[in-house]
Amino acid sequence: MLLKKITALTLAGFMTLGAVASFAQDAFVAPTTPEAAVAAREVLMKSNGATLKAAGALTGAEASAAMQTLLDNFTNMAAVFPEGSITGDSKASPAIWQDWAGFTAIIDTGKAAATAGLAAAETGDATAYGAALKAIGATCGTCHEQYRLK
Ligand code: HEC
Repeated sequence: MLLKKITALTLAGFMTLGAVASFAQDAFVAPTTPEAAVAAREVLMKSNGATLKAAGALTGAEASAAMQTLLDNFTNMAAVFPEGSITGDSKASPAIWQDWAGFTAIIDTGKAAATAGLAAAETGDATAYGAALKAIGATCGTCHEQYRLK
């Protein structure tokens, strides 16, 4: 009975992990058309949203996996914004390509925070892990404020 329960819990844990990490596990291919770019950023940004939301409650290997996903997303982020990739329903602001240095500086900040967060998750430093999540969350808001149309 107890064993069954543990197995079920472990399975649920792995499934959560799988859902959170699924984007990162697929080999990343940089999009080349505006349509593909807009679609790729929708996948990446939704992964950001779901991962960030879940990450605060995670510990151990699950926390590491979440941070790895966020780190992968920051690593791939610039590549899903090829120059001028705007379609009808895209909310990407033209300011992204007018101020590419400013845009990528925010990505670099997020990447550094996710790197620190991953190290914190791996050593079980809950305070540093929480601080990293907060820093990552701030980059989402800062970038959306400046580079995403309302
Ligand atoms: C460097 C800039 C930048 C950062 C950092 C960033 N985003 Fe975004 N995000 C955008 C832009 C630009 C769009 C609009 C893309 C489009 O519509 O083509 C967007 C769109 C989104 C969307 C809507 C996706 C859709 O199409 O349904 C979500 C959700 C989202 N971001 C979540 C996040 C979260 C959570 C974070 C932080 C972990 C984050 N973003 C970090 C720039 C950024």
